[in-house]
Amino acid sequence: MSIHIGAKPGDIAETVLLPGDPMRAKWVAETFLDDVRCINEVRGMLGYTGTWNGHPVTVQGTGMGMPSLSIYVNELIRDYGAKTLIRIGSCGAMQEHVKVRDIVLGLSATTMSTPSRGIMRDLNFAPTAHFRLTHLAWHKATDRGVTVHTGPIYSSDVFYDERPDLNELMTRHGILAVEMEAAELYLLAARHGCRALAILTVSDHLLTGEALPSEDRERSFSDMVEIALASAFI
Ligand code: HPA
Repeated sequence: MSIHIGAKPGDIAETVLLPGDPMRAKWVAETFLDDVRCINEVRGMLGYTGTWNGHPVTVQGTGMGMPSLSIYVNELIRDYGAKTLIRIGSCGAMQEHVKVRDIVLGLSATTMSTPSRGIMRDLNFAPTAHFRLTHLAWHKATDRGVTVHTGPIYSSDVFYDERPDLNELMTRHGILAVEMEAAELYLLAARHGCRALAILTVSDHLLTGEALPSEDRERSFSDMVEIALASAFI
């Protein structure tokens, strides 16, 4: 057991998918994995381990925002030996050409701060996805006929934002989409020599106000999970 994860040693696979929502973790495990068992229920932040095409995989909820993700990812890496960590989540598009339902691969994650800011201090570190994972995910998405965009994203600390000026600045600087976790995931992966990638479905559009209808969310989420699994095991 670690402080926030109740799994026993050996209960967690080297490859971990990280949805924010713990109920998504349950759905992903039950829908895509075989031989599934629940390995964490602490604080209701569900985690499951099973196999995909014979490969061990864990799906662990992270909660929303970088402080929450940071706790789970630190423990997954330091206490359980996770090596490949793929966030599967949603994002808000910040460019006209990025449409609702498209997939975004976060190449870099710009941020105002992460829980690691106190560690990095004056160093303006550039949190970056793992190249090979990103490359494979792009191919897998393209093979599936999914529209995929690979580029910079913004990891925000706030969902209810009050800085339209900042959004405009980021749109002008080519940021594709906003979400709330990837920068800290990339930073922790860099610190511990792991592979990380955020695969995101566009659930809403900051420029047009469009939002993904709830009945479409499951289909879009399935694409993301299949792309994540296929990329992890090539
Ligand atoms: N802001 C932050 N995170 C998000 C958004 C958003 O608009 N949409 C999906 N995740």
